[in-house]
Amino acid sequence: MTALLEVEDLRVAYGKIEAVKGISFKVEAGEVVTLIGTNGAGKTTTLRTLSGLLKPVGGQIKFNGRSLKKIPAHDIVSLGLAHSPEGRHIFPRMTIEDNLRLGAFLRNDKPGIEKDIQRAYDLFPILGERRKQAAGTLSGGEQQMLAMGRALMSQPKLLMLDEPSMGLSPIMMQKIMSTIVELKAQGMTILLIEQNAQAALSLADHGHVMEIGKIVLSGTGQDLLHDESVRKAYLGED
Ligand SMILES: Nc1ncnc2c1ncn2[C@@H]1O[C@H](COP(=O)(O)OP(=O)(O)OP(=O)(O)O)[C@@H](O)[C@H]1O
Ligand SMILES: [Mg+2]
Repeated sequence: MTALLEVEDLRVAYGKIEAVKGISFKVEAGEVVTLIGTNGAGKTTTLRTLSGLLKPVGGQIKFNGRSLKKIPAHDIVSLGLAHSPEGRHIFPRMTIEDNLRLGAFLRNDKPGIEKDIQRAYDLFPILGERRKQAAGTLSGGEQQMLAMGRALMSQPKLLMLDEPSMGLSPIMMQKIMSTIVELKAQGMTILLIEQNAQAALSLADHGHVMEIGKIVLSGTGQDLLHDESVRKAYLGED
């Protein structure tokens, strides 16, 4: 069986500077896989490349058995790969509901779209309560929920989340993490980037540690959580 996502020897550069230096990993359907690592390690660059926003200088990306090499970003969304970007990128002047609708821009099944908007409100009730308000009035954590809700509106096969807990209070972070667990229970496949290695590894099936453009360690979430070097470098233990 082939994995849902297969990344092989992926290389990405900004001009002459190679930010991703030949990484390989897989995401099987139904799994949560996390990429952790220090600032500037190349995590966001990797996700942006998978989304088609950056072109790799080398390597292979296969999604659902198909090479993504020559496929433009908007077609990648329609293949089932959704990206909730770092820093959220919601549209602050549009209503919450219209932001959600934007996530469904490639769909024309109106009843299905309404159903999925309702599903986003079930997942994040605060979004439903404030559906007619400008999205810019939401708190940071609520905007993060909106970004996740919007990514789900494309009915993805793979949901990629770039630092969903960034800047959030512990309670909000808990809410985002439990939502990831809930989505996984519903069968969603998730590629998660997180600064909070403890939280990410606790819920991930597999994890990869990135350092300056390379994967330096891989294992199950539990293995990495208990790995001494990971504990020292990422979980603040000595
Ligand atoms: N647009 C760009 N132009 C040039 N260099 C860039 C650009 N974006 C990122 N880089 C560089 O590429 C490297 C990887 O950056 P990237 O954003 O992928 O890291 P990251 O792992 O997501 O870090 P963080 O945890 O801080 O978000 C860094 O050295 C960064 O400075
Ligand atoms: Mg990043």
